[in-house]
Amino acid sequence: MVRLFLTFAILCGLYNEAYGKSSIDIDMKLKALNKPALKTIKSEDGDIIDCVDIYKQHAFDHPALRNHKIQMKPSVVFGTTKTTIPNNGTSKPITSQIWSKSGTCPKGTVPVRRVSREDIMRASSPSHFGRKTPRRYDFLDNALKHKGNFNITAERIRQPRPKDRSEAILIAIGYNYLGAQSDINVWNPPGVQFNDYSSSQIWLLAGLSDKFETIEAGWVVNPHVFGDSHTRLFTYWTKDSYATTGCTNLLCSGFVQTTTRFALGAAVEPVSTPSSEQYHITVSMYLDPNTLNWWLTCGDNVIGYWPGNLFTYLKHSATAVQWGGEVYSTNVRKKPHTKTTMGSGRWPSYLYGEACFHTNVRIKDYSLQIKYPPYLSEYSDEYDCYSTKLNRETYRAEPVFFFGGPGQNRFCP
Ligand SMILES: *[C@@H]1O[C@H](CO)[C@@H](O)[C@H](O)[C@H]1NC(C)=O
Ligand SMILES: *[C@@H]1O[C@H](CO)[C@@H](O)[C@H](O)[C@H]1NC(C)=O
Repeated sequence: MVRLFLTFAILCGLYNEAYGKSSIDIDMKLKALNKPALKTIKSEDGDIIDCVDIYKQHAFDHPALRNHKIQMKPSVVFGTTKTTIPNNGTSKPITSQIWSKSGTCPKGTVPVRRVSREDIMRASSPSHFGRKTPRRYDFLDNALKHKGNFNITAERIRQPRPKDRSEAILIAIGYNYLGAQSDINVWNPPGVQFNDYSSSQIWLLAGLSDKFETIEAGWVVNPHVFGDSHTRLFTYWTKDSYATTGCTNLLCSGFVQTTTRFALGAAVEPVSTPSSEQYHITVSMYLDPNTLNWWLTCGDNVIGYWPGNLFTYLKHSATAVQWGGEVYSTNVRKKPHTKTTMGSGRWPSYLYGEACFHTNVRIKDYSLQIKYPPYLSEYSDEYDCYSTKLNRETYRAEPVFFFGGPGQNRFCP
């Protein structure tokens, strides 16, 4: 009996040796992320969606949200904007996700994409799962000093760029922003390498170069986190330049989900096809002045919010907004360059139907009016790999911001 116990103890020891503490860490992470489901929906794309009691979602495990009173709906709307659909209304809005064909979540629950052990094991450690690597946004310091009265494009070209990211973006800076919106053209960028990601998104930023806060939303292809190359709805937040806080979707506590119709990290379809049907999602993020929560909406659907007390700077307003794309890869600014594409994978000069775009770009400032930003700048970290083109067909037409590109090519070897 004693011998049997000893053998067992030694085997356990060996097991822990081989898999380290991480096996226990993974179990704990899985338990924290996959809350008990009141109903489970198996999506045709392989995702499992758990309908979780809205009061028991992972958000409320956050220390800052211990006594948080959930806000069920925004006390204000982003605003009524008269917007035009590009190309005379031929782009169609996406109004649901693939999983919702297989069922609906009951009232009082929120749909949450279930995380598998394999998902977490792909990360370098459970605490890095679903998290970006740290970076700086040097322009934020000067933006504060000069109140936006400087050439942001020149500034960003001059400043050091992160080793593992490439952005092609439109930037609004120099005001206090209480909200931002755009229609984001939805694609499935080809050739996204397994350890890379490619996103099309909106960022709201506040704070300092090495201590900034963001809230972000849009679509992403991220095989490392999701295990496949589907185009998925995503959010992100951090309050310390991606160093130790925040994550994508609900993979850490913080974001409070209120919708029963959309699951963060679940696939969206249909995606656009070249010279054929175009699809978009309308993404808005805006501050609720009565609660200081930042709401996220997708078309007519309110998705949920980032509670104001997750943040310091963003509690009041954002100081910069970016629209565009980001490629993450350890092979940017390097030869050979990553083959991960951005947007549709095609150059902005190909315009509507070929290149990916943001349009109906809007901000909300202290005037509480919804506006096309009065000052906008275009910027790309690597113009030969991913580029930008803010296009206006006529003086009165709605501007369309095209961005993206193939990554590795003859000019970006
Ligand atoms: C949109 O419609 C107007 C009027 O019908 C037409 O002149 C214009 O060429 C169209 N634009 C595009 C991009 O199809
Ligand atoms: C800002 O700087 C960029 C890069 O040097 C330049 O191409 C652009 O014309 C400048 N814009 C303004 C408004 O000065």
